[in-house]
Amino acid sequence: MAKTKGRGVLKTVEGRISIRLDINGKDQAWKVEPGEYLLDALRREGYKGAKRGCDNGDCGTCTILVDGKPALACMMFAAQAHGRRLTTIEGLGTTDRPHPIQQAFVETGAVQCGFCIPGMVLATKALLDEDPDPDEKAVRRALDGNLCRCTGYVKQVEAALLAAKKLQGGKAS
Ligand code: FES
Ligand code: FES
Repeated sequence: MAKTKGRGVLKTVEGRISIRLDINGKDQAWKVEPGEYLLDALRREGYKGAKRGCDNGDCGTCTILVDGKPALACMMFAAQAHGRRLTTIEGLGTTDRPHPIQQAFVETGAVQCGFCIPGMVLATKALLDEDPDPDEKAVRRALDGNLCRCTGYVKQVEAALLAAKKLQGGKAS
């Protein structure tokens, strides 16, 4: 058994750790391997929006939100998600009803192959939740850790600024 600060005690049964977490507003109970990374656990459980790029904390394609803050799922143990609130791209919108941030990324042409986009969108969400009216500098700082091999680094900034306008205009889904 291991203590997790303020989040109860982790139990190991037959070599696997039982964790409880909230993903996109739903309670989940998972059994994870000791030393298993959160990115592997998420993808195994069907949350494939978190992408594996560098697997080394450098590219941001595995970005999710943990308790509302951006986190790199490739750099966190799955057991560290115990008692946390996770948001993945699957929790934002659907193809039919995209979230305003997703809509803004499409409208500005920021989406090309799309591989980096879940991480970019979630990093944008964390920024706009904290600062609904950021300037370009703040957007660049927030997206700093998210690499894109296709689009460059202009359209995503335009997308985040457009998303801020959309959300302020009350068009949030
Ligand atoms: S896959 Fe996690 S930072 Fe690159
Ligand atoms: S759109 Fe292809 S990596 Fe960013």
